[in-house]
This record gives sequence, structure tokens and C-alpha cells, in this order.
Amino acid sequence: MDAAKTEDYGRRHADIPMLILGIETSCDETACAVVSDEAPRIRANLVLSQLEEHRPYGGVVPEIAARAHLDHLDGLISSALEQAGAGFGDLSAVACTGGPGLIGGILVGVMEAKAIAYVRKLPFIAVNHLEGHALSARLVAYVTYPYLLLLVSGGHCQLQIVEGVGRYRRLGSTVDDAAGECFDKGAKLLGLGYPGGPAVARAAETRSASRFPLPRPMLGRAGCDFSFSGLKTALAQTVAKLESTGQLDARACADLAASLQMAINDCLLDRTSNALALFRAAHPGARHLVAAGGVAANKDLRARLVDLAANHNCALVLPPPELCTDNAAMIAWAGIERLKQGLIDGLDFAPRPRWPLDPASGAAVKT
Ligand code: KG4
Ligand code: ZN
Repeated sequence: MDAAKTEDYGRRHADIPMLILGIETSCDETACAVVSDEAPRIRANLVLSQLEEHRPYGGVVPEIAARAHLDHLDGLISSALEQAGAGFGDLSAVACTGGPGLIGGILVGVMEAKAIAYVRKLPFIAVNHLEGHALSARLVAYVTYPYLLLLVSGGHCQLQIVEGVGRYRRLGSTVDDAAGECFDKGAKLLGLGYPGGPAVARAAETRSASRFPLPRPMLGRAGCDFSFSGLKTALAQTVAKLESTGQLDARACADLAASLQMAINDCLLDRTSNALALFRAAHPGARHLVAAGGVAANKDLRARLVDLAANHNCALVLPPPELCTDNAAMIAWAGIERLKQGLIDGLDFAPRPRWPLDPASGAAVKT
């Protein structure tokens, strides 16, 4: 659609109720949701995990993921529509993850969404998966732009000022690994299995974080960038030392899990605190801090963010854990936000394995 047409579409649809089918296939979860802009917003939100298919390999195998999406997507869409009590004819549009992620899986979701859009004559919306996470707070709470976003997932770790749909200003990001990656690799080193984040959190629950000191890269430094590779290396060295002396028992692994969780969360809190100061200086009237992405499901992090927000006199919005990890409700919601602005994609949209939220991502904000 050309610009004039999409603008016109947005104007015409700004004030009428919307119902959108969302599809998410960018990693190892096949997910479908039906979401409305009227209460109750989430009419169906189904996530089919491929955990068991990938578990033997200790991580996601792209080829297995793509085939599993293909096998399950049709059935999941039917179930989501049935649960929502809706048919294709009730939909305002179909939205799917257009990237970033594993290209095979994204292709499956995009082709499915395009086929539905074409046959049912519905607008097609390709959503940036990261924008899905970024806007998920607005699905569940009243959050006004601009807000500060801590986006922490398996592949991304960023602090962004969210100024509006498609408008992001990056304050910082990781210079090496993402926080989720550090949880996952740490869990692998500790033999805690996959996916790593929940496994580390479980092991850490009743153990001591003080037995094994681990470094906190970047802590106390100015700026909002993250680094986790030094922490991962330090953990690997500690594990190797304990192993060589026969001391790597279950208790030591759980203590190390507690140290790892504490170190990662210390770093996330420290950088977010710096970002909040910059954000508040740039936008004195703004008051919302949002955390999203799989790592934002971490209980310890959530509790500590509550304190951080209180100290900065901010309103914290944490989507429920099931909306932090990958899901299609966030994709459908981002679709609603985009449709309201007339931001519709053509059926020639090409899936994007890489797709930064902020195209000018190199330039950190100077405030
Ligand atoms: O957003 P997400 O589901 O997928 C990506 O877009 O990457 O995030 C997945 C990441 C994984 O690294 C996983 O280990 C981590 O989120 N994660 C957690 C928890 N639940 C998921 N990390 C820490 N604590 C958790 N409870
Ligand atoms: Zn994600």
C-alpha cells in the first residue's frame, strides 16, 4: 500500500474496535493470539513450546524449529480463533513477526500470515519481534509515551527510550553477550539444562550468592552499555577449578547459580539506574519504567526493579511473566498499535533475520 492509502486506512480505523490475529515463529515457540483493543484485550494466547524437540541438543536447532512451526501453525491458529469465539471474517488484520530471529521459522509465519491476508482481504502487518516486547507493557497497563524500556531477552539486552510506535532512542546495549545468553550459557556450564534462565533461577532460589564471588562487568561505570562475556568466562574458570578438585557437586552448582543470577541482575540494575537518570533528565514529565523480554520474567530481577523504580520515583510496569517470554499476544498488540497509525505492510515484505529497533542504533543519545 502506498503512504497516502495507509494514512487514510489509519484514520478510518482509529476509532473502531479492532481484533487482530498475531503469529510468532521467530525462535522455538509456535505462538498464536487473538487480541482486541477493547477489554478483555487478550481473547486467546496460545504458545506451543518446542522444548522437548530441542532439549537433547542443549539449545535451539533452527531446522527443527522451522519444521515444527510448519507442522503446528495451522492447528494453533484454528484453536486460537475458536478460543476467541471468532472467525477470519471478524478480524481487522493479521500480524506476524517479520524478524529478527531464525529465518526458517520467520518465513513459515510470514507466509502463513500473508496467505490469510491475501485470501481474506485483510491488512498484513509485519512486526519487529523486539517491538512486540517493547509495546507489551501497553497491552496490560496504561503506559504513556515516552517511557524507558529495559529489553532483556535471549539475543538482546538494551535500554531504549520508547517515544512511540516505531520510534526508539537507544541509550545503551550489550557490547558482547545478551543477559539471557549469559543465563543460558551459565546453565549449560553448570549442567542445569535448557532453557537456562528458569533453570538458574530455580537452582538459585534457596542458595547462597556469597560463596563464589563473580565479577560484575561495567558496574559503576558511566553510561548504559552492558557486557557479560567476562562474567561467563569467570564462571567457566570457577567451574573448571571446582571440577579439577572434585568439588563440583549439586550444592556448589546451585551456589554458583545464585552467584550468577545475582551478578547478572546487579549489572542490569546498575545500568538501568544510569539510564533512568538520563531519561528523567531528558523527559522530566515522563514517569514509566518498563522491563520486557524473557529475562524480565526473572523473579529476583522483578523484585529488585520494584525497589529501583521506587528510589527513582518512577512507575514500574512489568508485564506478567507469560507475556515477557515469547508469545503472540505482544505481536498482535503491536499490530493493533501499528494499524491505528495506518502502518500496514505490502505482501512483498521480505522476512528480516536482522532488524534493529532503532535504525540509527550506532548513535547513542546524548542527554
Ligand atoms: O524473549 P525470549 O522468550 O526470547 C527471545 O526473544 O530471545 O527470551 C528468552 C530468554 C532466554 O535466554 C531464557 O533463558 C530467558 O529469556 N529467561 C529467563 C527466565 N525465563 C526466561 N531468564 C532468567 N529468569 C527467568 N525466569
Ligand atoms: Zn523474544
